[in-house]
Amino acid sequence: MTQKRVLSGIQPTSDSFHLGNYLGALKQWVELQDGNDAFYCIVDLHALTGEIEPALFRKRTLASAAQLIALGISPEKSTLFVQSHVAEHNQLGWIMECIAGFGEASRMTQFKDKSAKGGADSARVGLFTYPMLQAADILLYQAHFVPVGEDQRQHIELTRDLATRFNSRFGETFRLPEGYILKAGAKIYDLQEPTSKMSKSSGSVAGVLEIMDTPEANTKKIKSAATDAGREVKFDEKEKPGISNLLTIHSSLSGQSISELENEFEGKGYGDFKGAVAEVVVEYLRPIRAKALELLEDEKYLTELLHQGADKARVVASATLSDAYKNLGLVK
Ligand code: AMP
Ligand code: TRP
Repeated sequence: MTQKRVLSGIQPTSDSFHLGNYLGALKQWVELQDGNDAFYCIVDLHALTGEIEPALFRKRTLASAAQLIALGISPEKSTLFVQSHVAEHNQLGWIMECIAGFGEASRMTQFKDKSAKGGADSARVGLFTYPMLQAADILLYQAHFVPVGEDQRQHIELTRDLATRFNSRFGETFRLPEGYILKAGAKIYDLQEPTSKMSKSSGSVAGVLEIMDTPEANTKKIKSAATDAGREVKFDEKEKPGISNLLTIHSSLSGQSISELENEFEGKGYGDFKGAVAEVVVEYLRPIRAKALELLEDEKYLTELLHQGADKARVVASATLSDAYKNLGLVK
């Protein structure tokens, strides 16, 4: 097969993905389905490293799946599955932990940042071993490419190091994956603080446009977005971060170029422009939200789709795991 294998994962940690997740990452997942053999994993086991509340956690895993499908991840074109449905992830995860050095794991910046936030005593061991489970996610599928944000670069490097070490000590087992850093995607900023990125954890509630929000709520957020001095609709990230962010959002969803938009709104005020942005966002998200809500109405069908995805994933994952076991000398 000449198709490239693509694998990525996302944590089910919120009720709704936001527009930054979509334009920065998930839109490219959708594009990568064509011409590639794509595996997309809802990494629920990784989410256990944070605070969880069981009923909410369950709901968020299903909501994440429904939104991914509604956004265009097709269960026919790609393999969409839940990590905990494929036990091989934990099994290879342990092998990766036995290959990784304590020192190199200690150097992971995501671990250092997250453990520093809560204090050493509240950091869990799972947060420390998180990157080795992520390496297993990737290596099980012999992925060529791993589309992720810049913040994941170090985890991809570690995955390559672990694969290289395993292959040279125990024989060729894993393909070395390449990061496919999604920097071409638009970076979307908080509507209220347009110099910090749109984010559930650090941003303001009013500054985050959620896929699952009602059209009224999103319209209100856009209409009350922070704007800048002056009244010209011009792209200028330094002097006009608010207007520039709204231009990026409009352009990414409508397909109109920034300069077309600047011309269209020449001589008109911010109010008209925000109205137009709100309409574009709301109309873009309307069918997506409706589709996700429809999928969530029929939980049986949704979980059936995920089980089918897991069955396809397991075929590939179990073949890789049994190679790894054999090469390690585990008795069959
Ligand atoms: P998170 O779980 O919030 O780190 O986001 C999941 C994915 O969405 C990551 O791969 C990020 O690259 C992407 N992402 C998150 N926030 C934004 C943003 N404001 N603009 C662009 N991409 C984003
Ligand atoms: N750590 C990734 C993040 O926080 C999520 C993830 C888990 C992942 N396993 C993966 C991403 C495998 C790519 C491939 O965004």
